[in-house]
Amino acid sequence: MTILVTGGAGYIGSHTCVELLQKGCEVVIADNFSNSSRDVPARIARIAGKQPQVCELDVADCQALEQIFAAQHIDAVIHFAGLKAVGESCQIPLRYYRNNLDTTLTLLETMERHGCAKLVFSSSATVYGPKNEIPYVEGMDTSATSPYGWTKVMIEQILRDYCAVNPDFSAVLLRYFNPIGAHESGLLGDDPNGIPNNLMPYIVRVAAGRLPNLTVFGGDYPTRDGTCLRDYLHVVDLAKGHLCALDYAQTHTGAEAFNLGTGDSVSVLELVRSFQRVNGVSVPYVIGGRRDGDLAEFYANPARARDELHWTAEKSVDDMCRDAWHFIQTRLSEA
Ligand code: NAD
Ligand code: UD1
Repeated sequence: MTILVTGGAGYIGSHTCVELLQKGCEVVIADNFSNSSRDVPARIARIAGKQPQVCELDVADCQALEQIFAAQHIDAVIHFAGLKAVGESCQIPLRYYRNNLDTTLTLLETMERHGCAKLVFSSSATVYGPKNEIPYVEGMDTSATSPYGWTKVMIEQILRDYCAVNPDFSAVLLRYFNPIGAHESGLLGDDPNGIPNNLMPYIVRVAAGRLPNLTVFGGDYPTRDGTCLRDYLHVVDLAKGHLCALDYAQTHTGAEAFNLGTGDSVSVLELVRSFQRVNGVSVPYVIGGRRDGDLAEFYANPARARDELHWTAEKSVDDMCRDAWHFIQTRLSEA
């Protein structure tokens, strides 16, 4: 099988490329490196013992994408490429709509020209919007509270509309909860540029002394310790979910959504304490005000992924904390 992985140099894409290569797939990465570094494919190869093919291009560039499909038979596509910062999407919405929708439409048109009919799409738990009850179940209505979230809702709809008139097409919509952690080798992980927006990269930088303290966004939520609860899952478990989705696409058609989460919820303070205990480091924090748009609690009902994709998250919060810390230490020792 030859799998095109758009955004394959990014955080989740790179871990997924490792799993694909280790399973014996040929991997073609299409990435413009707008949010990843050019040394990632070599790191993937070091872990997997096999090189991915790398095509530096914008996935919205129809001619560049056409060349990939013309050069080889692509059996299936995993589509990670997209912009993902919720706050930034509120500041520059057009860039988010343009990038996330254009990449998807260009990809679908190119796949159609070449008879490629299997797509796994990176969706998000954010499509459950602010009103659904927890735990989230796939049949619930979707909505969003940010332009980023709306791009995911819209792309899911585009894929449902496309599948409705293309009965041989399979679109697996994977709704990720909160992926954290890193590859146990220390070679791949989440290393955003600038000051991180998300919790784990922030914790890691504080522990490493690169930022003075963590601000916990809100200590007065109606939760067991007053801080927000989330369904954190290890990025390697998440990567493996994509291989299960590809298997599913071999025998199913239509657009089908699956939650990829553990079904458990962990508070901000619980994550901080686990990180400190597992790694023997200190993470100073202060309790600050709530962040706009945050929900007190959400987590997955992961039953559909378990029953139909035959996927369950296996790694613990301790694994996530240990691997995230190992990754940043490896990064710092290389610098
Ligand atoms: P990432 O930013 O690390 O990876 C995305 C990759 O896509 C990057 O390598 C970037 O350079 C590339 N890219 C972006 N626009 C491109 C374009 N036009 N052409 C070619 N390459 C392009 O993000 P990630 O965390 O790995 O997320 C991957 C996908 O999963 C995204 O679609 C994201 O919205 C979705 N998702 C992520 C999370 C999360 O917590 N990380 C949660 C839910 C959904
Ligand atoms: C956010 C996005 C979600 C996206 C996900 C991964 C929102 C509303 N949702 O999820 O769409 O899929 O990122 O990119 O933005 N926190 C702190 N201090 C910090 C950072 C975070 O206390 O410095 C808290 C947050 O308030 C939240 C929790 O940690 O309660 C997790 O935050 P984060 O990692 O940003 O993920 P989400 O907000 O759940």
